[in-house]
Amino acid sequence: MRGLDAAWGARFLEGDALFDTPFREADGLGPVYIRASCGGCHQAATRGPGFVERMVQVDAAGEPVPGMPALPYGTVVRPFAITGAHPLLAPSRADVRLHQRAGIPVMGRGWLEAISDAELLRVAAAQAQRTDGVSGRVNRVTWRSEANPDSPFHDFQPGAVVIGRFGLKARQPTLDDFAADALQGDMGITSALRPVEPPNPDGLTDDAKAGVDVDAALVNAIADYVRLIAIPPRQDMGPRGPRLFAQVTCDACHVPSLKTRADYPVPQLANADAPVFTDLLVHDMGPALADGLTDGEATGREWRTSPLVGLRFLKAFLHDGRAQSLDEAVRLHGGAGSEAKASADLYLALSDDDRAALLSYLSSL
Ligand code: HEC
Ligand code: HEC
Repeated sequence: MRGLDAAWGARFLEGDALFDTPFREADGLGPVYIRASCGGCHQAATRGPGFVERMVQVDAAGEPVPGMPALPYGTVVRPFAITGAHPLLAPSRADVRLHQRAGIPVMGRGWLEAISDAELLRVAAAQAQRTDGVSGRVNRVTWRSEANPDSPFHDFQPGAVVIGRFGLKARQPTLDDFAADALQGDMGITSALRPVEPPNPDGLTDDAKAGVDVDAALVNAIADYVRLIAIPPRQDMGPRGPRLFAQVTCDACHVPSLKTRADYPVPQLANADAPVFTDLLVHDMGPALADGLTDGEATGREWRTSPLVGLRFLKAFLHDGRAQSLDEAVRLHGGAGSEAKASADLYLALSDDDRAALLSYLSSL
């Protein structure tokens, strides 16, 4: 991000190094884990190459089974384990389905954190008045980390009910919470914010490094790095792209800009227009995109509107990377029961020339 003062600039560099550093068994990696570094799934702050596999136990009708008793260690596959331990693999049962989640780009995420709660509630209320099926809602979630007293960004306490913004179903409210959750859940690195190792087949409550693996300062450094990654510079291609984007109502969910809090601690992000092209609300995208997993109040069919940021750096799109092009990603919005069906239909009705202009506008974001 341009114009940071020396202190924030130093925070960025510190967190940048930690983001790409592989943790080792001696650092507390495991007992089970998916990848050894954040960068393993967010290479160059974009999508992948690593990903997360989630398991869902379903009944004969394909509906998720309450409590999922076949999955005693949770729904996340953790394919690696430290010396002497066993990885957490999917049981080979016909009633357990696998769903892939691609690592999401992390560019410009400080903007998402800075947006005021009031803006999100305002947009949700406005969508509730629409007649074209678009009706996103905020995902209210419980703060699951320990308190983080050193953070100037919030003072959330364990058990508080807050608005979720991060993750594919908006399940995390802040970036320090996300960093602590990713360290714990993806890497088996416990921290002052998330001190408990993930459940594992050997019942291990610790790993090669005794006790809590990292302090809150390390979590905050990684979170600050993510906060300070800029939105890649956008080229102004004239009014046609934005006009088409609004004409086919992409902007109902991919809201071009939202106001940020006046008291956000990074001055560049405070009291500003966040050009993020999302409403941070979750939307029912229909059964074709559903995974059957719930997160906070988000259902198995709901997904957070993806921020349209740095799309030109991505090679695959949507939560599992199933779309190989922007055109395919937009077409897949149009399944039966999707809130975005009307918008996708308008997109399909555009002339070839207009559709190409809209797609090149998307690539510029
Ligand atoms: C094994 C792959 C993997 C690793 C390792 C990983 N992530 Fe992620 N990350 C993901 C996936 C998948 C998602 C979407 C998760 C979801 O919603 O369930 C995600 C989402 C995120 C988001 C949310 C972005 C948004 O737009 O909401 C942030 C921030 C993030 N990761 C940061 C980190 C940090 C920091 C680390 C290291 C401490 C890390 N990740 C390690 C795969 C990974
Ligand atoms: C009802 C709300 C809604 C509308 C309307 C909508 N989208 Fe989306 N969009 C979403 C959601 C939710 C996702 C994430 C879906 C997923 O990952 O499965 C998404 C994902 C995307 C992605 C993939 C981004 C990525 O990082 O993979 C693109 C591109 C996109 N939308 C473009 C558009 C365009 C262009 C339009 C207008 C034709 C549009 N969307 C209309 C809600 C909407």
